[in-house]
Amino acid sequence: MSSKLKVIVNILLLAVLLVGCSAKADETSKEDKQAAVEPEAPIALQGAMDVEISEFLKAMGEYKEETHGNYSFYIGEIEDVPVVVSRTEVGMVNAAASTTLLIENYHPKAIINQGTAGGHDPDIHVFDTVIGTEVINIGSFRSEHLDEGKGMAPETWIHMSTDVRKDDGETEELTTLPSDPALVEAAKRASDEYEYGKVTEGVIGSADWWNREIDRIQWFHENFGTSAEEMEAFAVAQVAHVMNTPYLSLRTISNSEVTDDGIEDLEKAGQYGAEFTIDVVKEIAE
Ligand code: 5AD
Repeated sequence: MSSKLKVIVNILLLAVLLVGCSAKADETSKEDKQAAVEPEAPIALQGAMDVEISEFLKAMGEYKEETHGNYSFYIGEIEDVPVVVSRTEVGMVNAAASTTLLIENYHPKAIINQGTAGGHDPDIHVFDTVIGTEVINIGSFRSEHLDEGKGMAPETWIHMSTDVRKDDGETEELTTLPSDPALVEAAKRASDEYEYGKVTEGVIGSADWWNREIDRIQWFHENFGTSAEEMEAFAVAQVAHVMNTPYLSLRTISNSEVTDDGIEDLEKAGQYGAEFTIDVVKEIAE
């Protein structure tokens, strides 16, 4: 190779090297920039029905709606806190499906499942709010054998716990699922703000059931310590538990067979519960 050619080849090699380096530097700075503007994980706010989420949409003002399947998710901010509002639809299967989609798509740092509920405790009145420190599946029972013609004996039904597989591959048997203690504390701090009734801690019972038989309601209350019943919390808690996402149950009483309140108002309870939830979000963000 002539010395002239050698010089040209060297210059070309140097040029290729320099271009490579600067492309790499570009990539790194792009990554750095991305990390710097990586959005904060949102707090997820769930309600089964429009009356349970409309207060959130009002508070957000502007939001982006996305759907996965037929489940709607509303992305925005409440008082500068990033939130994703999820309409789970009613019932345990909807709650489980939409919670799975919620976690997979939005990776929330906490999930608050909230909304209306029926009272089980005679000391808890319509528009009081229950912080569900624990949730239990009150649709999970087995019965002993009874011969044909012997009827049904619900009082003898035996509660079935739920097996969940842990990260180490073993299963664990759970009768109740707890709300995240730090989220419970945030809810307790927000309690003073609540002006529509009292805020108490209690056990929330979930099932695809709306119970109005007083003996049955009392049976749940006495045997499982339930303060209120609804149709989503346990399913959400179970999915959140296996997907390692902190969870909180909040429920505002919209009806009760065991008090003489004589009110059934899902709209107002939905609004009051959502207002309280916003105060809890502010406490979490502080
Ligand atoms: N029993 C069951 N679910 C109730 N809900 C309100 N009150 C009750 C009740 N007494 C809630 C459920 C469901 C919807 C029908 O209202 O969580 O989403």
